[in-house]
Amino acid sequence: MYSEKVMDHFMNPRNVGEIPDADGVGTVGNPVCGDLMTVYIKVKDNRLEDVKFKTFGCGAAIATSSMITELAKGKTIEEALRITRGDVADSLGGLPPIKMHCSNLAADALHAAIKDYVKRKEANK
Ligand code: FES
Repeated sequence: MYSEKVMDHFMNPRNVGEIPDADGVGTVGNPVCGDLMTVYIKVKDNRLEDVKFKTFGCGAAIATSSMITELAKGKTIEEALRITRGDVADSLGGLPPIKMHCSNLAADALHAAIKDYVKRKEANK
């Protein structure tokens, strides 16, 4: 039921871990399944220089977080904010309908990390 790409990102997730001196951190959870995802971003010259994640969740949640780190790396803040759960699912060759909420989690965690970054920047002005 999973595409080869989903299996690949699940078995060999990219960019796993934490960025200790991250410029933004976003954590989101899904109360229904109990899965939890945190995305860390490092920003330089308005671009996401590095993106890492930690996910406690199902295989699809791990695959979608891995994929979103790849999609987001190198993008500007504005471009990264435009990445949707549909983009994540499409890049993975599709997800079963009951697993779409997992990709939602990945997009939400990335956007939360960016919002955190923007908030910190405002606070430091
Ligand atoms: Fe909830 Fe996958 S089952 S994130």
